[in-house]
Amino acid sequence: MKRPYIETVGCQMNMLDSEMVVASLRKEGYQLVAEPLQADVVLFNTCSVRQHAEDKIYSALGKLRRHKQKYPEKVIGVLGCMAQNHQKLVFERAPYVDLVVGPGQLQRVPELIAKVQSGAGPQEALSLGRKDGSAEEIKRSHESFDPLRDPEMRPTPSQAYLRIQIGCDKFCTYCIVPSVRGPEQGRPPAQIVAEARTLADQGCREITLVGQTVNSYRYREGDRVTRLADLLAMLHEIEGLRRLKFVTNYPKDMTDDLLEAMRELPKVSRYLHVPAQSGSNRMLERMKRGYTVEDYREMMARIRSALPGAAVSSDFIVGFCGETEEDFQQSVELVRECRFKNSFIFKYSERPGTKGASLYADDVPDEVKRRRNNELLAIQTEIGDEENQRFLGQIVEVLVEGPSKQAAKHAAADSPTLQLTGRTRDDRIVVFDGSRRQVGQFLDIAIYDCTPYTLIGEVVTQHAGSELLALQSG
Ligand code: SAH
Ligand code: SF4
Ligand code: F3S
Repeated sequence: MKRPYIETVGCQMNMLDSEMVVASLRKEGYQLVAEPLQADVVLFNTCSVRQHAEDKIYSALGKLRRHKQKYPEKVIGVLGCMAQNHQKLVFERAPYVDLVVGPGQLQRVPELIAKVQSGAGPQEALSLGRKDGSAEEIKRSHESFDPLRDPEMRPTPSQAYLRIQIGCDKFCTYCIVPSVRGPEQGRPPAQIVAEARTLADQGCREITLVGQTVNSYRYREGDRVTRLADLLAMLHEIEGLRRLKFVTNYPKDMTDDLLEAMRELPKVSRYLHVPAQSGSNRMLERMKRGYTVEDYREMMARIRSALPGAAVSSDFIVGFCGETEEDFQQSVELVRECRFKNSFIFKYSERPGTKGASLYADDVPDEVKRRRNNELLAIQTEIGDEENQRFLGQIVEVLVEGPSKQAAKHAAADSPTLQLTGRTRDDRIVVFDGSRRQVGQFLDIAIYDCTPYTLIGEVVTQHAGSELLALQSG
């Protein structure tokens, strides 16, 4: 009874949590399987950020109902943000679920599975709500779950996520994250550096630091405060590491010292994901984002002057409560002006329990949301295409991640060449033909074509690095 299956939706935080849960199960002798029906333990790591993410999980659970009737000894678990958000409601909507575990309690998953298997009945492990105790109690009930790393479980051997912060204290009015992920807490820098060292020793070349507002990171020990810029400088020293990225940034915390650190530290990616959410001050105020569109523009100007050529990407919500055509056009203007590398665009989805849901009516009709979504996406796509065109004829350095999506589906396992995918230092996706042994390497790729989302190129065989080596040795 040691075959788990796990399905993950949501953000990087959830990807990392799933990796950690699987690592903790492997330590107990579990062996992951790829199909839910083959598994003894089926886990869903869930997201509550939009209604659609929740619907998806309830529908997946529905598909397991019969299976569970036939094999009652199988364990079904709902983990993560929707578990914390819906709590008992999960058992009501899917009474055959055995396990409901919030994101702040994931360390208990192996123990709770064992309890269910020993016949103790359904189990639940949740953190305190944001008003259900003293500040200290609430913090303690949300634990950062970062057990020892299992190199086998990372999506690719040369890349890893590393959590530097849990929770969020920004309380944007539309957002459920602060209530399900709890108070913002930075992890101690010594722990982060030690984990990065372990990762580098395991062969990891690129680390992405994750937090909901990663650039708000602060850790105080006595008089000493460590911030993201300091952390980057510390991690930069680690031998073997070649790239450092961090997501997601909060516009108001984009300080000059961080931009300076990015400029000074060559391992740090020149890439910033820093969501604007809207181009209208009226909407930003209703969203309680804490900045104006003028502030955002000023931040963009600082980024552009400190880091020429850096890639910036954003998120937008369309159809937030009371959004008029004029408000929307201001988002269009901002997208045109900022020339983001890419933007994720979402239709507003009302989240029960948020300030937004109680203060404002979700009054923009769905077809209007859809049209605005498509319109903004079309403009962003056009810009993405134009920006990518600028790379035609250039040579870029790429960290090879693995077979491209297409190759993963179609290429025969033993074919000598296949389409590979990798990313540049500024997070642009590049595809090219290569061989499996190049995965994890840094290669120079000459770009000859592009789409709005992808650069297409070929490996430069005689690259500068080897020429230099040849000169030195000859
Ligand atoms: N902490 C990150 C990301 C949070 S969730 C940040 O602050 O940027 C990722 C994105 O989902 C957000 O940036 C926002 O654009 C979107 N989002 C959050 N709540 C939403 C909601 N209720 N409806 C639609 N989109 C939402
Ligand atoms: Fe949600 Fe805002 Fe926190 Fe991001 S910063 S997680 S959008 S509350
Ligand atoms: Fe979703 Fe939770 Fe991430 S709500 S976006 S999985 S923090």
